[in-house]
Amino acid sequence: MLENKIMEARLLHFTTIIDRMKKSNRTKQVSKISKTNSKNHVAAISKVVCILWMSILLLSCGHQEEEYHSILDKIEAKSKHYKEISISSKRFLAEYHTIEITEGEYTFLIPERKSQIQSFECSECHSKPLKKLKGKEFKKAHWDIRLKHANAEAMNCTICHDAKDMNHLKSLTGSKIDFNQSYNVCKQCHTKQFEDWKGGAHGKRIESWALPRASMTCVNCHNPHSPSFESRWPAQFNTQKRKERE
Ligand code: HEC
Ligand code: HEC
Ligand code: HEC
Ligand code: HEC
Repeated sequence: MLENKIMEARLLHFTTIIDRMKKSNRTKQVSKISKTNSKNHVAAISKVVCILWMSILLLSCGHQEEEYHSILDKIEAKSKHYKEISISSKRFLAEYHTIEITEGEYTFLIPERKSQIQSFECSECHSKPLKKLKGKEFKKAHWDIRLKHANAEAMNCTICHDAKDMNHLKSLTGSKIDFNQSYNVCKQCHTKQFEDWKGGAHGKRIESWALPRASMTCVNCHNPHSPSFESRWPAQFNTQKRKERE
């Protein structure tokens, strides 16, 4: 009896398991069907979306290509209505008499010089060759100028001044250089300082940092006849200097 009951129970157990398996199979099939159905839906929707998207893309692409050929074009177009910043040093520079120069990729203002040179125009006296100006009948001129620039044997007045046309400076190869652009004289020998000056690393700005750029020129700081600066106490404060001061 007991054995029969156990058998029955086992049977029941198996049948329920088989039942469950069948059921789950069915649900799998059902879910398969519904899955394929939903797959079709998704495919259809994504197709539509794709077409829409592509057409939007195509349209917008055509639009962009028409208006801007490159990123630079785009920047230019977009900044058309951009107003320049209101900060400018123009107002402060008004009191200076400046000239514009272009050196390589740099264009900036430097102070005009001719009006600052006391003995300009030189041709007021230098209407004759130098030789004819020198003599007992002439007073000595330019006694205040004492060259202290490089080697005294190598450097002389006519390395920079044009003896045939005193109103101009001259290059080492003999071409005329305007007094307003005397940096062209200096740059021949001081290339490094000239390059630095051009880029703004040597020298000084006039007034403000706002554009337009205006920079001092070499002769604003360096006397061409005696260009180096005296070292100032206590630039080298040591026992030697202290002795000198006593
Ligand atoms: C007031 C008249 C006068 C003016 C202005 C004048 N000079 Fe002279 N300069 C002279 C006389 C005179 C001599 C020659 C006598 C001498 O050796 O001092 C001379 C000589 C020179 C010499 C040759 C110096 C030497 O030792 O060989 C140079 C260079 C020179 N002048 C440059 C200039 C320049 C540049 C200017 C203009 C910025 C100028 N001078 C303006 C009168 C003048
Ligand atoms: C390294 C180049 C150089 C040499 C060398 C040189 N000069 Fe000059 N000289 C200049 C420059 C540049 C100026 C203009 C400076 C300025 O813009 O203030 C000038 C200016 C002058 C002036 C006008 C100064 C004034 O304020 O009236 C006279 C005069 C002059 N030089 C005479 C001479 C004489 C004389 C010698 C020789 C003893 C001489 N220079 C040597 C570059 C030179
Ligand atoms: C023909 C070449 C030549 C020309 C042109 C020339 N210089 Fe010089 N300069 C020299 C030499 C060489 C020295 C000496 C360098 C040294 O002692 O290290 C010198 C020295 C100097 C010094 C001092 C350097 C120091 O270490 O103390 C200054 C500043 C200077 N020059 C500025 C100028 C300026 C500004 C001009 C234009 C007006 C000019 N030079 C034109 C050749 C030149
Ligand atoms: C705003 C003023 C200023 C201007 C403009 C300027 N310099 Fe100088 N320069 C200086 C000072 C300051 C020094 C450093 C002097 C020292 O160390 O004793 C100097 C140093 C120099 C020296 C010595 C070597 C060095 O680099 O220390 C040379 C050469 C020289 N300058 C050439 C030039 C030339 C060429 C120009 C123009 C293209 C120029 N400077 C423009 C202020 C100036």
